[in-house]
Amino acid sequence: MNILLTGGMGYIGSHTAVLLANTGHQVHIYDNLCNSSPSTLERIQKITSKDIGFTEGDVRDTEKLADVLRKEKIGAVIHLAGLKAVGESSQKPIEYYANNVQGSISLIQAMQSAGINTLVFSSSATVYGDPIYLPYDEEHPTKPTNPYGRNKLQIEDMLRDLSVSDKEWKISCLRYFNPVGAHESGHIGEDPNGIPNNLMPVIGQVVNGILPSLNIFGNDYDTPDGTGKRDYIHVMDLAEGHLAALVWLQSNPGCHNFNLGSGDSYSVLDLLYHFEQASGLKIPHQVVGRRPGDLPEYYAKADKAEKLLGWKAKKTLSDICSSSWLWIKSSKN
Ligand code: NAD
Ligand code: UD1
Repeated sequence: MNILLTGGMGYIGSHTAVLLANTGHQVHIYDNLCNSSPSTLERIQKITSKDIGFTEGDVRDTEKLADVLRKEKIGAVIHLAGLKAVGESSQKPIEYYANNVQGSISLIQAMQSAGINTLVFSSSATVYGDPIYLPYDEEHPTKPTNPYGRNKLQIEDMLRDLSVSDKEWKISCLRYFNPVGAHESGHIGEDPNGIPNNLMPVIGQVVNGILPSLNIFGNDYDTPDGTGKRDYIHVMDLAEGHLAALVWLQSNPGCHNFNLGSGDSYSVLDLLYHFEQASGLKIPHQVVGRRPGDLPEYYAKADKAEKLLGWKAKKTLSDICSSSWLWIKSSKN
């Protein structure tokens, strides 16, 4: 199938592009490079030895996007393009609504004009908000606590309304938990611009000497070691989830939400321990106060994806840490 990846030069998109190209699909990336580098295209091509199409453009440019969809004879779209920093979304909410919500409206209009109706959307576990119960299943109430999360929920709502109005649409909203890890080649990985917020990129910057040490945000949570626990999911498992959703959608019209998580949770100290084991390094760290807005723990019930998509996360925390270490090491040189 010819598949367009909006935001395909980014962290999750580049790994998904590799998997799709390696499983015989023709991949075209559409990205404005606001949070990625053009060199990622060469890296994807190096890993896959496949010709990957690329158009530099903004998803809000509806005409340009529609032209690419027609010219490349696209059969399905994976929509990853978006701004994703939770803290920044509170400082610049209108930028986030314009980029994420308006960008998604523009994409749907371009797809309508090109006659394409298969869409996989990158949503987030952040749509659930504070847990009423754990693990979160797809029926858990949604009450996001920040503008980024509200963007994701608005897009999900819009896609559901679209699928009700036009029964031809086949849509999956994939609610990612905490994507981490890198491709086993070490050629691609998470490469955020500026100061990262998420745990693994921060560890990467400590290793590379950009940050002096890791601040652990609180060790007084009600968890076994007192640090926050999360459902870390390897980015290549996540890539497999996109492929599984695309295949399943072919015979399942409508709009469907799926949790993509491992179903397990690990603490900050667990992750640090596994990273130190994988790298042979000691990561300087100290405990500081809790980060506002952080939850003690959250993790997925991912049974729906297993039952319907035949998808399950396979990689372990050791796999996550050893692949991250490969990428951090190679980006250091
Ligand atoms: P990323 O920033 O690495 O990739 C996003 C890509 O989208 C970048 O290459 C960026 O240049 C591009 N982009 C942004 N706005 C665009 C626009 N208007 N037009 C065209 N391209 C645009 O982020 P990622 O981690 O790969 O995340 C991909 C998607 O998954 C995002 O929608 C994000 O919200 C979602 N998500 C990510 C996480 C995570 O922790 N990484 C968790 C849950 C959901
Ligand atoms: C963050 C976002 C969440 C988003 C997710 C994507 C916030 C409040 N939440 O969640 O909406 O969906 O990223 O992956 O920003 N930690 C440290 N030191 C650090 C960084 C993190 O101790 O320098 C801890 C955190 O307190 C947390 C764990 O590591 O316990 C994971 O943090 P992070 O990677 O930022 O992910 P989330 O907090 O789950």
